[in-house]
Amino acid sequence: MARRPVLGANWKCNPAKKADLDGLIANINACDTTDCDVYVCPSPLHTDYCCGKFTNASVVTPQNCNFKGCGAFTGEMAVEQMKDLGITNVLLGHSERRGEFGIHQMDTNETLAIKLKYVLDAGLTCAFCIGEPLAIREKGLDAVLAEVDTQLSQIYSLLDPTKVVLAYEPVWAIGTGKSATAADAQATHAGIRKLISEKASPEVAAAIRIQYGGSSNAANAGELSAQPDIDGFLVGGASLKPEFAQMVATISAAKKA
Ligand code: PGA
Repeated sequence: MARRPVLGANWKCNPAKKADLDGLIANINACDTTDCDVYVCPSPLHTDYCCGKFTNASVVTPQNCNFKGCGAFTGEMAVEQMKDLGITNVLLGHSERRGEFGIHQMDTNETLAIKLKYVLDAGLTCAFCIGEPLAIREKGLDAVLAEVDTQLSQIYSLLDPTKVVLAYEPVWAIGTGKSATAADAQATHAGIRKLISEKASPEVAAAIRIQYGGSSNAANAGELSAQPDIDGFLVGGASLKPEFAQMVATISAAKKA
């Protein structure tokens, strides 16, 4: 089954100045989205500014949400507020929110499952991140897939391919300049698809899109895009640069071939 490629631009807690947003938005608007979906995750303070600014159907995607709605939840972002802004997609489970990189843990597999259900029940779609830390990767692929299985165990039943995109992001590859090799990434993506086939259904496994994330850039996008089970990228550092448009072009061409 042909899966339409999808790229996410995760701006994380960047840029420092609102005045720099228009340049980042221009990078996204330079992408040819004819054959590739694009979503963009601005920082919470910049999300509203970005709404309505994308001219190529790129989708504004907050980096988190709560699972209680509006009310007395200081510091939170509610799905109801997102809907009011015309937002249709949310990012969940990024490793930087799961407690990696020295930031305290803001989400667990339990809270993420509750959030995903909340998002889908509210009629939004989701990009959901999973991935293992270095200590697990060093034990080998079986250990990696066991960890991924744990991360997915509470959401297998929620994996509607029309509503959920998975982002496989090995923690050790994020922001380090050390991307997984194309062969390792492919083997892991294939393993994830097999788990989904067994624990959700073969149909879901065949249709769901799985992005790779972790030091992906214009230079390695070609090799990674050539892998059959890699359907796109969740991009951090390179999404702040003009090369992001090149990555969209690269995977669009690779998946059409
Ligand atoms: P990176 O980040 O591309 O800078 O490694 C990816 C991510 O964290 O989504």
